[in-house]
Amino acid sequence: MKNNTGKIGIFDSGLGGLTILREVVRLLPQREYLYLGDNLRAPYGNRSEQKIFEYTLAGVEWLFGHGAEIVILACNTASANALRKIQREVLPLKYPSKRVLGIIIPTAEDIGQFSKAGHVGVLATVATVRSKTFEKEIKKCNSHIRIVCQSGGRLVELIENGGNEKLLQAEIEKVTRRLISKDKLIDAVILGCTHYALIKNQIKNSLPKDIGVIDQGEIVALKLADYLRRHKEIGKKLSKESAVCFYTTSDKVVVKKMMAQFYGKKISISTVSYKIGA
Ligand code: DGL
Repeated sequence: MKNNTGKIGIFDSGLGGLTILREVVRLLPQREYLYLGDNLRAPYGNRSEQKIFEYTLAGVEWLFGHGAEIVILACNTASANALRKIQREVLPLKYPSKRVLGIIIPTAEDIGQFSKAGHVGVLATVATVRSKTFEKEIKKCNSHIRIVCQSGGRLVELIENGGNEKLLQAEIEKVTRRLISKDKLIDAVILGCTHYALIKNQIKNSLPKDIGVIDQGEIVALKLADYLRRHKEIGKKLSKESAVCFYTTSDKVVVKKMMAQFYGKKISISTVSYKIGA
């Protein structure tokens, strides 16, 4: 790859990664981005670790094939279930100069500053909760913090399908009630699924007022900027074209409307297809 043509790939199972993209583009507007949402196969959150790995790897390889030098898994489910394997088993053999970064470690590193009580709740998908990645990573850098996790039930499915506000509200109330009943001292809730950041205000409104709600967009953007400062060998390969291109594995007409709504701007989008598995 020539210098100054590399792109930053942002991958998610669907719409949730837009909450990361928005903040990354706000902080680093001069870069060139490819956003890929695997809306066809979303939600990932109820799938097996192996399936999540296969789907994530296929998305990452598509992004590499289209010029990404670095890919952010803007998806906690993929960060928890696929990142390590991709970093350890795939990159060294097939793409030694490329990078894939997740979003759970950056969040875990910063969580101490959001909780005075040291009691933190995490709302995440079933596959993220099952992996215990948030607990493990938070314990590594904030060993005093007590963490309780709760799965977000059907939230991702309801967001991806769009529309049914009543069902969505009922689901939000159910999962937030369950989360806070697990630990009465929680004073911070991490939205540990990027889709949940799309409905942050609704989640905030169904939690007690004194509980802070943390989404990952700004945290990830700041960590990426810092990473690129520290890794000049990657930074110098990146284009300064100031562009964002959107791709989906599903119907682009349907997805375009939702992506534009959540991204907050007009977008152009293409449907792509790629092979899953070897
Ligand atoms: N947005 C994703 C996450 O952060 C995945 C949601 C899903 O596909 O279930 O976990």
